[in-house]
Amino acid sequence: MEEFVRGLPKAELHLHIEGTLEPEMAFAFAERNGVSLPYPSVDALRAAYDFTDLQSFLDVYYATAVVLRTEADFYDLTIAYLERAAADGVRRAEIFFDPQTHTGRGIPFGTVVDGIGAALADGRERFGVSSGLIMCFLRHLPPDEATATFEEALPYLDRLLGVGLDSSEVGNPPELFTEVYERARSEGLRLVAHAGEEGPADYVRQALDLLGVERIDHGVRAEDDPELVARLARERIPLTMCPLSNVKLKVFDRLEDHNLGRLLDAGVMVTINSDDPAFFGGYVGTNYLRTAEALGLGPDDLVQVARNSLEATFLPDDDKQALLDELDAYVGADAP
Ligand code: ADE
Ligand code: ZN
Repeated sequence: MEEFVRGLPKAELHLHIEGTLEPEMAFAFAERNGVSLPYPSVDALRAAYDFTDLQSFLDVYYATAVVLRTEADFYDLTIAYLERAAADGVRRAEIFFDPQTHTGRGIPFGTVVDGIGAALADGRERFGVSSGLIMCFLRHLPPDEATATFEEALPYLDRLLGVGLDSSEVGNPPELFTEVYERARSEGLRLVAHAGEEGPADYVRQALDLLGVERIDHGVRAEDDPELVARLARERIPLTMCPLSNVKLKVFDRLEDHNLGRLLDAGVMVTINSDDPAFFGGYVGTNYLRTAEALGLGPDDLVQVARNSLEATFLPDDDKQALLDELDAYVGADAP
């Protein structure tokens, strides 16, 4: 089963590149950049990964991101992720980055995008992983700052696939960001947003109706609103779910309690992703495997989830079809 799942051609659609910063890498970058981390050792940093909620994680996540300073740091971080992703059967990765986390401490936007972009190009060649970059706005900062970030991104728009919205959710609803999403849409960018991770089902509705997003990142709380669940299924709106993240951040007490299986049964276009794998105990393959084990999902369910992930990509139809054909060939040949 493990070999079958790791080999399943799949897309990863909810992955924060800063969340792939492994503790060892954080200390190596800190040393080469002459910056210090607020933790004395790799073990002490790992021990801080005992989160009580989203905010307790974000505090550590932003504290470790200070080691990312040069184009080489962003390159090394990204290429390491792509290598791991390829080993988990990822054929397409639509990757989030948080420019404000970096520009806010004086790192030029271009340094971030050039470093990540060079690794994405090499990752395509070396590992055969197709990719796109989604710029997320930090919702705990004022909407004006999101707009200023969008303006800073204008010279780089051809390198961006879309925009997203992340960081502290409760109290920072999607409706605050309508203007910047309108601008992103007018520039031809694809639209996604985190919604219904800790925040209410209404934030999922706002993301759909006010921001016009095409996918919802997380969306677990949509289940509180049966009409919304029916709409997600009817309109085939993908949810990029991250089961191990939700347990680490106490959205669910146990993986066995996760609602991914119920939403899948309700016909929602559910996908499995890793969010911030260096912090949450597993990359995408491990998310598939542990979720299957906890929820009793079988091979057919996991094939459906992988199929959903490929269908939910922002690839042109031909490229999408080529990956779906790859999946069909794999399942035909390798069904366990
Ligand atoms: N930034 C990185 N990971 C996040 C998550 N799971 N939710 C909101 N913002 C994030
Ligand atoms: Zn996320």
